[in-house]
Amino acid sequence: MGKAKVFVTRRLPDATLNRLVAHCELEVWEDFLPPDYATIREKIRDRDGLLSLLTDRVDARLMDAAPKLRVISNLAVGYDNIDVDAATERRIPVGNTPGVLTETTADFAFALLMAVARRIPEAQTYIRDGNWRTWHPTVLSGQDIFGATLGIIGFGRIGQAVARRARGFNMTILVNTEENKDKIQEIGGEEASFERVLSESDFVSLHVPLTETTQHMIGERELTLMKSSATLINTARGSVVDGEALHQALDRGDILAAGLDVTDPEPIPLEDPLLSLDNCLVVPHIASASVATRAKMADMAADNLIAGVTGNRLPNCVNPDVYT
Ligand code: GLV
Repeated sequence: MGKAKVFVTRRLPDATLNRLVAHCELEVWEDFLPPDYATIREKIRDRDGLLSLLTDRVDARLMDAAPKLRVISNLAVGYDNIDVDAATERRIPVGNTPGVLTETTADFAFALLMAVARRIPEAQTYIRDGNWRTWHPTVLSGQDIFGATLGIIGFGRIGQAVARRARGFNMTILVNTEENKDKIQEIGGEEASFERVLSESDFVSLHVPLTETTQHMIGERELTLMKSSATLINTARGSVVDGEALHQALDRGDILAAGLDVTDPEPIPLEDPLLSLDNCLVVPHIASASVATRAKMADMAADNLIAGVTGNRLPNCVNPDVYT
């Protein structure tokens, strides 16, 4: 039997591609921009495996166009771009890359929180615009982080890692979660209702996956509950927050500021009003982007792909029901 045929939707590090070449006949999409839906559909027609990115929509129609498909390996911990139920129905295992990006992403959530609180991007613009003429007692004053209250919504691996960082800053940590409630006290936090987290926190950081339930979980009502001195940090998924409601809340001063690693849609259009606000820092979905972590994620995605096409159980499978 020849090597399994796989389609990889973006160029990965050479070390990962070399490992894949040993097991698979590879086609790699070399463009910087992703292949569109129709192209992926065409490319996987006779493929055994697909290595996808979070930019690639993988739905039932796409799966049905690839009758030989035996594995979908997503290079991300999140997999809201994939119709997992449709994959399970077709007994196609779906892989993801949990764990390796936890600390890197938590570092970044904290970096975003600190950058917004202490107005670092504004300060750089201030200098570049030629405004630094003297030391001034009030210019560019921000919010204290040490001793403030951090609300964490969602307490999976990344939410917990953010809480551990917050402890070092002597923060009061309020956690709203459906899972891992037993970990809250251990990490030095306190369980709180969704409403209490919103109304008492100086910083609210989102760490839930995108699902039908979490879509727009932060909208006008929730933003109104937040303090006018509070900051919202989103490193989860863009559409967990209603972007229009956020713009209004920031513009009206209902909340103080926001730091967004993720937007809806991605990329955020240049004309999106959120980009015109000084109190909204937007960065291009880079929370897991350290050189080491991205290399590990690529390797994990390769491990899942190789396992799938060689008939082995995926080391990280999000729909293990396919094996029962
Ligand atoms: C990034 O957002 C990921 O899900 O890995």
